[in-house]
Amino acid sequence: MDKKVIFSGIQPTGCITLGNYIGAIQNWLKLQDDYKCLYCIVDMHALTVHQQPAEFRQRAVSFFAQYLATGLDPEKSTIYFQSHVPEHAQLTWVLNCNSYIGELSRMTQFKDKSRKHPDNLNMGLMDYPVLMAADILLYQTSLVPVGIDQKQHVELARDIATRFNNKYSPTFTIPEPYIPKSGAKIFSLQDPTSKMSKSDVDPNAYIAIVDSAEDIARKFKRAVTDSDNEIRFDEVNKPGISNLLTIYSNVTDTTIEKAELEFEGKGYGEFKTAVGDAVIEKLRPVREKYTDLMNNKDYLMQIAKDGAQEASYMARKTLSKVYRKIGFVEPKR
Ligand code: TRP
Repeated sequence: MDKKVIFSGIQPTGCITLGNYIGAIQNWLKLQDDYKCLYCIVDMHALTVHQQPAEFRQRAVSFFAQYLATGLDPEKSTIYFQSHVPEHAQLTWVLNCNSYIGELSRMTQFKDKSRKHPDNLNMGLMDYPVLMAADILLYQTSLVPVGIDQKQHVELARDIATRFNNKYSPTFTIPEPYIPKSGAKIFSLQDPTSKMSKSDVDPNAYIAIVDSAEDIARKFKRAVTDSDNEIRFDEVNKPGISNLLTIYSNVTDTTIEKAELEFEGKGYGEFKTAVGDAVIEKLRPVREKYTDLMNNKDYLMQIAKDGAQEASYMARKTLSKVYRKIGFVEPKR
């Protein structure tokens, strides 16, 4: 039997953080064996906010290399750039004609972003969820690993798919959001009550997965904690220490309880250094592989090409079905 399909996308903005790694990517790595996985750099989505062209291009390539460096394996998964597979844009148009301005203008993220970017209230911002629905539906995706903030978009994709299936005939698999259990959520090192964000303006707030050992050590030393001196997991009263315990237990593959025992009676300084060292060790191979890949652009771009080819092959099957069903004239072969 064919494996079920998993699709997820990441925008090439900011940089990939330890939070993305622990909260999302580690989960993706495990899924690679049991599902047909597609992991896409959604550069078309990123274009909905202004991008400086040279920086945009450089960052997209760097993201691709970072994906591979974490262990996403092009032999198992399909890894590619969204803009290399034209079917994403093509299906978006058809879905646009089956989506309503009303439902799109009610999306939480659209409302937030329109508030944040009043000077660049472009159509793409409103159409963002339809492009995302096309990403997902093109591949007959069953599961979509996303953070909780993207759940509404996956639900819209379900609505659009159901509507299309009812109006024409069964065409799309109805996807489900796949939200990893909490506990793996990593918070900012500077404000441990908010999520570690890859677009934080303060670089001390996050660990980039390709940060140097010195940077990692320094950022953990500066991590915000609290004024008592007990290393104990308590998210309400001790969010900083709890966050560090979560990170430590994750990268050393132990439990929070064991980590608490290990640091019982020790000071914050010693604890922070230990967390920093553990993260440095965990990320060392990622950084090494990343450097290697960035020095081998030819090889990197060949993987991107193969990925796009494979994605396009799968996507075309769905798109031609869609074109037939809606009544487009079939081109002569
Ligand atoms: N909107 C997602 C985010 O910002 C990225 C994304 C685009 C995505 N297309 C997708 C995620 C399809 C999952 C499936 O996180």
